[in-house]
Amino acid sequence: MKKILDFITEEMKQAFVACGYDESYARVTLSNRPDLCEYQCNGAMAAAKAYKMKPIDIANGVVEKLQGSRYFEEVNAVMPGFINLKISGDFLAEYMNGMAAGEKLGMDTVAEPKTVIVDYGGANVAKPLHVGHLRAAVIGEAIKRMGRYVGHTVIGDVHLGDWGLQMGLIIEELKDRQPDLPYFDESFTGEYPEEAPFTISELEEIYPAASGKSKVDEAFKERAQEATFKLQSGYAPYRAIWNHIMNVSLKDLKKNYANLNVEFDLWKGESDAQPYIPGMIQDFIDKGLAYESQGALVVDIAEEKDTKELPPCIVRKSDGAALYATSDLATIVEREKDYKPDHYIYVVDKRQDLHFTSVFRVAKKAGIVAPDRRMDFVGFGTMNGKDGKPFKTREGGVMRLENLIADISEAAYNRIMENRTVSEEEAKETAKIVGLAALKYGDLSNQATKDYVFDIERFTSFEGNTGPYVLYTIARINSILKKYAETCEVAEDTTILAPGGEPEKTLMLSLSRFSEVMLGSFEELAPHKICAYIFELSNALNHFYHETRIIAEEDKKKQAGYIGLVTLTRNVLLTCIDLLGFEAPERM
Ligand code: ARG
Repeated sequence: MKKILDFITEEMKQAFVACGYDESYARVTLSNRPDLCEYQCNGAMAAAKAYKMKPIDIANGVVEKLQGSRYFEEVNAVMPGFINLKISGDFLAEYMNGMAAGEKLGMDTVAEPKTVIVDYGGANVAKPLHVGHLRAAVIGEAIKRMGRYVGHTVIGDVHLGDWGLQMGLIIEELKDRQPDLPYFDESFTGEYPEEAPFTISELEEIYPAASGKSKVDEAFKERAQEATFKLQSGYAPYRAIWNHIMNVSLKDLKKNYANLNVEFDLWKGESDAQPYIPGMIQDFIDKGLAYESQGALVVDIAEEKDTKELPPCIVRKSDGAALYATSDLATIVEREKDYKPDHYIYVVDKRQDLHFTSVFRVAKKAGIVAPDRRMDFVGFGTMNGKDGKPFKTREGGVMRLENLIADISEAAYNRIMENRTVSEEEAKETAKIVGLAALKYGDLSNQATKDYVFDIERFTSFEGNTGPYVLYTIARINSILKKYAETCEVAEDTTILAPGGEPEKTLMLSLSRFSEVMLGSFEELAPHKICAYIFELSNALNHFYHETRIIAEEDKKKQAGYIGLVTLTRNVLLTCIDLLGFEAPERM
């Protein structure tokens, strides 16, 4: 089914052409004066210049041609030359029924499906998952689901930080604590144990201890750097420890991401890209792109259009070590080999902007990807506390994700118990669902690049622009449907009828924008547009609910139409929240 906007634009084009004007002037947009009309066309103003006429004369001519159109209930030309449009109720109802019957709620999937890689998550192995990783996971998951829904093949990759200094720190700390382990005995020739020499809770304690130590103990830090280098050069005993760290840590990471309703297709990391580095660097040299600068190997990335000077990208340090950028470039080499993506999306902290600019430019310059390959960096802002500083625990430490989720679920629990409509047990289960929705919506409803304040009180409120408000709206529809099934003569045919009044029409107009919002928000990689949409839709539903007697309606056809309409609303809301990565409880 076509987008509603396409139907009306098509009609408008025909009217412009019939008057002898070019169809390009027939652009229709959502009205910015909803008190006057629903859609509008401002093309007469531009056409007036081209045809040396008065805008209002052009508008009047076009309006004339639109009289009797099945799409419009009212078409007006107003000074100086606006064309105001009101959609016909019959057409709107027809569109609603098309949505209700259609696959994907009537949305046509994209004409050219692409292979898309979404690189998000970015957790660092052996370091606890903290709120800094929350945004990457939440935004990336939404973008992945949105892309899939509109019809692309989307591959989500967690791209773990699994090759850095933390590994050397852990190895050296382990050596200090358990020097007798076979990994530290150079003469050891047997098989290394299968069992890891630490549990997850020990590992979680080892890393911060080692990290703290490296800040005060220079010798320890140097040892850790050396151990990291040895690991990276393939030293078998350290490779064995690395495997233990990975196994233990991954299990925990997977559990944490699952709790967030975040699923990756690929659990790859920086380590997977390492085999591609030597060949890639050689290629940079052969192509004359990489040159030595103060012992390091660098590639220039500056372009004429730049407004500020960009430093060259270092691809190899003077000691021969690879860098973050080297890993990311080699990962692109690997992805090209395995997936040939048409579109790369990286969801990472916006402070890494320069890093990704460098990586994209080198990748294109070196021909790892075609120059016109779409590569997007979705850089997100910081989650702040109420004091406007990066979010911390009450004690001032880094907040762990698990604790954050527990806190918000508790707040949701208290809210649910305020209403006292469900048992304590049900409230606990519901609170988990509502808490996650509060957390995710609180994040996603902001434009990703912006910083935002994490405000438990506001996020868990059942009123206002919040996740729980949307869930509450869905629960309301569930309860209408339940009451209908229990107390009314249930109709088989729930064909939606032309709207009987403003609240009903507003609801339909909002529903009719579904496919436009889905396609547009993925194109712009903007989950916040889906949030804005479901907030608007929830408001429209609640307004309709307050103004309409659904269960008491005596005209059975009309009542069945209402049921069809609220059911469609429910399906649209459920689809949208699924794309945002959360669920709705049956009731709240
Ligand atoms: N591990 C990195 C960090 O914590 C994020 C990784 C982002 N993805 C990437 N391809 N560089 O900062």
